[in-house]
Amino acid sequence: MSEKKVNVAVVGATGAVGNQMIVCLEERNFPVKSLKFLASARSAGRMLRFRGDMTAVEELTENSFKDVDIAIFSAGAGTSEKFAPIAAQCGCIVVDNSSQWRMNPDIPLVVPEVNPHAIAAYTKKGIIANPNCSTIQMVVALNPIHKKCGIRRLVISTYQAVSGTGKKAVDELFDQTRAMMNFQNYETKVYPHRIAFNCLPHIDKFMENGYTKEEMKMVNETRKILEDDRIGITATTVRVPVYYSHSESVNVETLQHISADEVRSLLQNAPGVKIMDDPQNNVYPLATDAAGQDLTLVGRIREDKSIENGIDMWIVADNIRKGAATNAVQIAEILAKDYL
Ligand code: A2P
Repeated sequence: MSEKKVNVAVVGATGAVGNQMIVCLEERNFPVKSLKFLASARSAGRMLRFRGDMTAVEELTENSFKDVDIAIFSAGAGTSEKFAPIAAQCGCIVVDNSSQWRMNPDIPLVVPEVNPHAIAAYTKKGIIANPNCSTIQMVVALNPIHKKCGIRRLVISTYQAVSGTGKKAVDELFDQTRAMMNFQNYETKVYPHRIAFNCLPHIDKFMENGYTKEEMKMVNETRKILEDDRIGITATTVRVPVYYSHSESVNVETLQHISADEVRSLLQNAPGVKIMDDPQNNVYPLATDAAGQDLTLVGRIREDKSIENGIDMWIVADNIRKGAATNAVQIAEILAKDYL
């Protein structure tokens, strides 16, 4: 990394992802010159720590971005819709974790292990979008296969952690679990049904086509990142009572044949991937393995004998780290190194 030091702002610094962004900037030794914490008026004055220094959170306003080089946003789509263009107009490069700008053709959607070249197009709007968490981990694992033999179709089922919904959902799972274990009544505030000891086939809003928005994010964002609109994709996304890490069952139909062993050796050398695939010894990726680290874990790699060219796999990653904060900070690292 070059020695250029960067003025950084984290928008949504008090949230689950924003907090992790601050941790990632510190852990990865990002070349921070100054760091500004921005959130809503509710949090103004709250103190947050970075590299041993405590700094007060400031209220996000139109004047927040003067002298900021890179602003990493994770404060919801509405906040990004309003403030990302304002930040960009101030000459600041925005890395946006919300869904607001992801499918805008003038805005790159980037997973550094897959399409770092796309970052160059940030000059059009001054904004780079960070993909949906479940999409990021999947394309990290699929990109080498797509490059080698072409992907025709994906059939995906996800098992997604409550932290993807934010802090309130983490609290709701804890409170409901504790209430039930103590034979007490529980409240349901964040999700339409109880999440404790349950699985909800419902993430984000339902759309007219019967899919949820989360499912359609996986369809559209995967095609954009892999730069191939011909891939057929169908997904069912499910919220499960897990705090951290999303797990995914992915059935991959390829254009050319590839064996399970060939997939293993491809992924052995793939950036950001770790294979955990020794089922005879009960080795396969678990949410608990993925939580707190940045690799995408892949296991249960096997040939789908029901079709000519098919592979099944199980893909797990920390949704708050690689699925959000780490990916955004990796993008910022490339900006700092190659573009500032
Ligand atoms: P605040 O804590 O002040 O509400 P999470 O997804 O974990 O709920 O976090 C959402 C983050 O986005 C929080 O940091 C939250 O700040 C921030 N946020 C939400 N709405 C706004 C807003 N209108 N302006 C600035 N920050 C916002």
